[in-house]
Amino acid sequence: MAVIRITPSRLPTLVVLALILSQAQTDPDPLQDYCIADMRNRHSFWVNGAPCIDPDSASISHFTTSALSKPGNPKANRFGFNVTLTNMANLPGLNTMGLTMARIDIVGSGLVPPHSHPRASEVTICLEGVIGVGFVDTSNRLFTQILRPGESFVFPKGLIHYLYNFDSTNSALAISGLSSQNPGVQIASLAAFMSKPGIPDEVLGTAFQITRQDIAKIRKNLGG
Ligand SMILES: *[C@@H]1O[C@H](CO)[C@@H](O)[C@H](O)[C@H]1NC(C)=O
Repeated sequence: MAVIRITPSRLPTLVVLALILSQAQTDPDPLQDYCIADMRNRHSFWVNGAPCIDPDSASISHFTTSALSKPGNPKANRFGFNVTLTNMANLPGLNTMGLTMARIDIVGSGLVPPHSHPRASEVTICLEGVIGVGFVDTSNRLFTQILRPGESFVFPKGLIHYLYNFDSTNSALAISGLSSQNPGVQIASLAAFMSKPGIPDEVLGTAFQITRQDIAKIRKNLGG
């Protein structure tokens, strides 16, 4: 193994490296058994997460939810998917645990379009249907797989990924676990074309090598 000598000239590089590594973590570990989110006082002051209720007031209801028992409405958007999440409101006991669960319903030929989660990696399991999943790494290599019931796939943190229902008639169902209580989501097409205010046409035109008319058409197709 190469020995890295810490010379003064390398110090700035090491400091930057240490900073980057210290950022590459999941949510901070809880300092107590649990910190049940106190949603009432949520906006009286700002903390990273939510403040906790008195542990003596903890009850089973804080640790259980039926939020994922029913499908959302996948026809509510033009892509044909719906994601239902656990969060601090429906499962306050997961505050500070660094976890989210998601129920993903996809209509026949529906798509969870290419998107990324800035704060979480994700492991998904197909429960029903045939789901084509894939992610693109930072060298633009695509890793793709077809999942059938019981089969799983992992999407590394921050990388663009998608889930497509290859079956044109039957809907598909998947459950995901994400490594943050607030994974965040950025859908690539919506971030590029549907931001408010819009990214200037010059920028999109050059970035995608398209005309103003193309941009207007894409925006219209996406519901803008
Ligand atoms: C998911 O379905 C619910 C209704 O069950 C709807 O309110 C919501 O907008 C849908 N979400 C998406 C992303 O389509």
